[in-house]
Parts: sequence; structure tokens; C-alpha cells
Amino acid sequence: MNKYPVWLDCDVGVDDAIAIMALHALEETDLLAISTVSGNVPLSSTFSNAHRMNGLMKTNYPVYKGADRPLIVQPQYAYTFHGKNGLGDVELPLPEDAKMLDTPAWDALYDCAKQHPGELRLIAIGPLTNVAIALTKYPELKTLLHTILIMGGAAVGGNVTPAAEFNIYADPDAAQIVFKSGVPIVMCGLDVTMQAMFRPEDWDELAQTGTEAGKFTKACVQKAWAFCKSIGLPGVAMHDACPVMYLAHPELFRAEEAGVYVETRGSITRGKTVTDLYSDKQFETKNAMVVLGVDRDKFIGVLKDCIRKI
Ligand code: RIB
Ligand code: CA
Repeated sequence: MNKYPVWLDCDVGVDDAIAIMALHALEETDLLAISTVSGNVPLSSTFSNAHRMNGLMKTNYPVYKGADRPLIVQPQYAYTFHGKNGLGDVELPLPEDAKMLDTPAWDALYDCAKQHPGELRLIAIGPLTNVAIALTKYPELKTLLHTILIMGGAAVGGNVTPAAEFNIYADPDAAQIVFKSGVPIVMCGLDVTMQAMFRPEDWDELAQTGTEAGKFTKACVQKAWAFCKSIGLPGVAMHDACPVMYLAHPELFRAEEAGVYVETRGSITRGKTVTDLYSDKQFETKNAMVVLGVDRDKFIGVLKDCIRKI
């Protein structure tokens, strides 16, 4: 099978960790490297957490450090959902052989894209700071990437403000650079990710396999589950697994082409992804596929199959 070459940029957090396990296990994807960015927790933690996931999966994906803060706005963390350490306060050991690579994420990403011209799929599941820096420092990069698949934004609603989703809100200026780059974009916003609900019976089933990955999956979502339950949700949304699964199994999803741009200066609307999906007035360019629906049961089934393989 021809696998899609993938670069993952993330802010390892709980749902990032689960997305990494899925990306590793899927037969359709070939994960080449992981870059980390300040987001859910500070860069030092997101960087070490990516290494810790290598340890859990017994893999040695190259891990690169990116931006330790957004381009312009002040850093914003998400400790309530992800815990102080970003892994739901579950302790995972740092592999003794973890290679602390010095090449900045944006330089490594460009080098990788040159080795896979026109084929590299960039999956970005944290604030888009690293991606924006890479696209700005290397204008040629936009011609080398096949697609940028993001978890971020929302055609309707928000989870940090009523208008904005965390990844976009955390660095709206970076997100605007990405949406204006001209690279084909798949946007998995809250419209679809809030349908991708991981429920207690799902993580209990995985923990009962007795594998380290299954037990970790249940343990790492408990802090997020406590928060989600307190606001009446039936589970924990697998936000970051959505772009991963979209790449491997697009048949599980529903998406529409749209114009999407980011509000970067609004006092109430900062970080809103403005789409023309529901407006008479259309943007000039349809720059993104906006994912709006998913077959939740099949999505979770594939996700559990992935974690069972680790
Ligand atoms: O809004 C959800 C997104 O913000 C996810 O990527 C989660 O990991 C956090 O980064
Ligand atoms: Ca994330």
C-alpha cells in the first residue's frame, strides 16, 4: 500500500497523545517526524511529552522543538483539560535514549518537504505558530506541501470564547498566515470534532486489554473527563484524531469547500475562523475543505483498533 508521508506538528496534550498513537498505528500513514509547539502546556512539556509517547509506543520518531510562544499574542495554556504536565498528569518516563535534536522545527519541516516534493501531508493539531514560521521563512514550502490538515477553528461556536477555538485563539496571526498561504487546507474544527466523542465504555474497553497503551489512554483522559462531565458532555472529544483519521479514512467524514479566514484583532471575535459556508456573501477563494460531520461509531472503532495494535 502507498502510505501518505506525514509530518505532525502538535502541542502534546491529551488528545494529541491519542492522535499520535493513531497516526503510528494506521496503515495508510507513514509518520516521518513530530514537531512540537507551545500550546496546551509550555514548549518544554510538549517537547518532552512527544518523547514520552515514543517511549510508550517503543518508537523513535524524530522530535523537534518549535516556538515557545505565539507570534504576537501572549501564551495561553489549557491546564484545566490537559493537566499541569499535558498528559492529564499521568507520569510517562522520558526514554533514556531520547535524542534532543537542535534543528528548529521549521527548518526540519522544510528539509523534509524537499525530500517529498508535492507529497508531504502536514497535520497540525496545536497552535499554528511553527507552520506560519516555516511558510514565512521558506516561501518555497507552500509549493512542496501536498495538504495542511489542521485541528482548529469552527464554522460555528468556540471553546475558549463563544467565537474561537483554542488552537486558533492561541495564535490567530499564525493561523491567518496559514489560511492565506495558498496551500490546500483541511479544517477539522469543532463542528466535527465535538461529534468525535470518546466515551467511558470506550476507554474502559481499551484499559481492559491490559496493554500500556490501553491503560495510558484511559488514565490520560480522566482529568479532561472530569471537566467534560461537569459541563454535561457525554465523553471527551477526540479533537486531534480527526485530521489524522480524515487523511486515512475520508469516507467517514462529510466536508464542504469554503473560504476561511481568521479574525486577528477583534476584542470579542479574536481567533474566530470566519467561513462563507452560511453566508450569501462569498470569499473570492475557496481555500479550505471544512469538515462538518463524522460517523462517530466507525471513527471510534478505527481509533480503538489503532490503540489495540500498540
Ligand atoms: O480545541 C481543541 C484543541 O486545543 C486540541 O488540539 C487540543 O489538544 C488543544 O490543543
Ligand atoms: Ca492539540
